Amino acid sequence: MAVKKIAVIGAGVSGLGAIKCCLEEGLEPTCFEKSRDIGGLWRYEETPESGKAGIYKSLTCNTSKEMTAFSDYPIPDDYPNYMHNLKMMEYLRMYARHFGLMKHIKFQTKVLSIKKRPDFSSSGQWDVVVEADEVQKTYIFDGIMVCSGHYTEKYFPLQDFAGITNFQGRYLHSWEYKHPGSFEGKRVVVVGIGNSGADVASEISRVAEQVFLSTRKGAWIWNRVWEHGNPMDATLFTRYNRVVQKLYPDCLINRHIENKLNLRFDHANYGLLPQHRIFGHRTVFSDDLPNRIIIGKVQIKPNVKEFTSTTAIFEDGTEESIDDVIFATGYTLSFPFLNDDSTILDSQLSMFKFVFPPALEKPTLAFIGIIQPFGAIIPTSELQSRWVVRVFAGLKKLPSKKDMMADINRKKQKMTKDSMESIRDKGRVQFIDYMDEIASELGVKPNLLSLFLWDTKLAKEIFWGPCTSYQYRLQGPGKWAGARAAILTQRERILKPLRTRVLKHSQISLSPLLWVKSICVVIFFLVSMLVITHITSN
Ligand SMILES: Cc1cc2nc3c(=O)[nH]c(=O)nc-3n(C[C@H](O)[C@H](O)[C@H](O)COP(=O)(O)OP(=O)(O)OC[C@H]3O[C@@H](n4cnc5c(N)ncnc54)[C@H](O)[C@@H]3O)c2cc1C
Ligand SMILES: *[C@@H]1O[C@H](CO)[C@@H](O)[C@H](O)[C@H]1NC(C)=O
Repeated sequence: MAVKKIAVIGAGVSGLGAIKCCLEEGLEPTCFEKSRDIGGLWRYEETPESGKAGIYKSLTCNTSKEMTAFSDYPIPDDYPNYMHNLKMMEYLRMYARHFGLMKHIKFQTKVLSIKKRPDFSSSGQWDVVVEADEVQKTYIFDGIMVCSGHYTEKYFPLQDFAGITNFQGRYLHSWEYKHPGSFEGKRVVVVGIGNSGADVASEISRVAEQVFLSTRKGAWIWNRVWEHGNPMDATLFTRYNRVVQKLYPDCLINRHIENKLNLRFDHANYGLLPQHRIFGHRTVFSDDLPNRIIIGKVQIKPNVKEFTSTTAIFEDGTEESIDDVIFATGYTLSFPFLNDDSTILDSQLSMFKFVFPPALEKPTLAFIGIIQPFGAIIPTSELQSRWVVRVFAGLKKLPSKKDMMADINRKKQKMTKDSMESIRDKGRVQFIDYMDEIASELGVKPNLLSLFLWDTKLAKEIFWGPCTSYQYRLQGPGKWAGARAAILTQRERILKPLRTRVLKHSQISLSPLLWVKSICVVIFFLVSMLVITHITSN
């Protein structure tokens, strides 16, 4: 049988993982990347071309390195836990070099359209039209992996802001924001409190005269530096915590985490308290914001009702004179090369496990990395790719269209129940659950029970430790001989970059007294069950 040719659209983190997975499965990948380099969002550019993800110069990961790494290529032990975008690029270049990915990428080649071939129902093949040097070319492919990212189409609802066209100062989308220099001494409104809004407001407030951060809904603010100075995700995203979360009703878990975040600063006193519970909404990371608020450089404001030529009037009636406005209103998902083909795409929610459009006669089109896990993207999109190439290679079958639709509808219902977000923000999934779900499709989910019997040391780290992606390389297709060692040394890699002045008797441990904690949890659970049964029986 001829080797299957696969088109990969985009050479960001998702595309790089996709190419690697194709090679691993013996498929022949061709990656089309419209810019001249790899990295996608993570490659900082002073003046990005339109349609490329834009980041600010200071952008630093909000996921820690052990949670962010590709599953068979740990990030070097001396790299900081939260990497600056330049460090992330270094890692991606090493990954591309190590697995020989560069020769499969055609740079400065933009995919214009993808269309089913006339014999699609039997061949599953696609016509892919690309453009390079203003010349168009059509290729035939047996499968397509869409890895084009979702932070390129600005969401810029200017019509929602009365009077903005009369405003005489400068206004821009956070996409265009690079560094704070030009805001020195200015009075600035930042509209929207996502990760970008919080970052940009905090950064500008170091040089600006005054920053107003305007938010309709408020937000829960997380910090990267968690208890004992450990990375937040590496501390909280453990299988053990997931089990505990499932044991308790959501409201108790929400309350517990909310109390924790309020311990750092009271969200109500700081004007940030949202209406929504913490897990019903997208997360905002900012280690800086409360520090900027308490010194008065950032003021939290409600929604802007109206702009005049020189001021912003907020919904509480207050008016502030301002020089600049930054709209940190986010992005929308867009796939221009699909030509709005609605048989493929109504919304990301309508895809089987957010990857396969269910209505196609042949499963030869896949979307990688369009969900937003509460957690890192690399491991998620890599696992999706590993699954997809198995399907493309004919080694795995998808369920019937009917079963896929049933699964999709079940998820949709659950999401509308759990989340109060606008449609464009949907597609949030629980990190560990989603990873396990895809891993089960693939047959690479670690079997904890047998591990506890045969390799207790490893099983303990998998259960209590950070749920890193190396665990999906222990067994099944794509098994990696280094996985066990990578898991057992992950805490050393977390500590290594911190130990730049080693103390003689320092005994730092990531999760002190875990066993005491767990016994407390079990006792607490039993007691609360007793209390609940007691109350309900009365
Ligand atoms: C400010 C910000 C901070 C973030 N921080 C984190 C973080 O700390 N950790 C984390 O896990 N995630 C983070 N994310 C999520 C982020 O989306 C992912 O980390 C990751 O960059 C997504 O990679 P991607 O490859 O899917 O998309 P992208 O990085 O956007 O790459 C897509 C690539 O496709 C190319 N392309 C698009 N269309 C075409 C076409 N038609 N033809 C050819 N090429 C095309 C683009 O040029 C680009 O190179 C962050 C996102 C933002 C916006
Ligand atoms: C990190 O920031 C990006 C961009 O705002 C966001 O989409 C992602 O969800 C954040 N990650 C986490 C774990 O919250």
